[in-house]
Amino acid sequence: MRLTFVTTNMGKVDEVRSLLKTFGIEIDVCTIKLTEIQSDSLEEIATRSCEEAYEILRRPVFVEDAGLFIERLNGFPGPYSSYVYRTIGFSGILRLMEGEENRAAHFKSCIACKISGDIINLFSGICVGRISNEPRGSSGFGFDPIFIPEEGDGRTFAEMNIEEKNAISHRGKSVRLLAEWLKLMR
Ligand code: IMP
Repeated sequence: MRLTFVTTNMGKVDEVRSLLKTFGIEIDVCTIKLTEIQSDSLEEIATRSCEEAYEILRRPVFVEDAGLFIERLNGFPGPYSSYVYRTIGFSGILRLMEGEENRAAHFKSCIACKISGDIINLFSGICVGRISNEPRGSSGFGFDPIFIPEEGDGRTFAEMNIEEKNAISHRGKSVRLLAEWLKLMR
């Protein structure tokens, strides 16, 4: 069975492909733009996108939806992260956080996978950390330059290579759960 990852984000593709390869799993990528519903739940957004992707492609698919949740901002931007990134970017987030002592934040990733039939399987991962005072690093994508994971050594995600980020990231965790489940299915 060959799985298709439906996404337009090539940063996600690099991370997911690199990690699944270590499990011996190769994927195809499809860059059709899916409708992203408005919801406070990443699970609901991912489920709907996965249903749409399966309807269109009619083959085993998965999608991933992720967000950055900042404690001091009551979880903002959360499920609205891609819109916020496109509008105010990470510099806008740094401005909102100016002078704030509580910089706690976490990333959450939710993968929805449909192989056949009616069942959609969900796999989630969380990475706890904090918002940096200034952007650092040039790897990765999105809010990587301003996120310092707690499990790391003080570097931002954007100062890590893909393997280092995958080892501790929200997406690394959800992808490992997907890979373990796929192995059970074989
Ligand atoms: P979506 O999952 O495509 O809806 O994207 C959510 C947004 O959150 C992206 O556009 C990125 O800006 C941001 N984002 C999601 N995952 C990551 C990550 O691993 N690092 C940095 N930013 C991320």
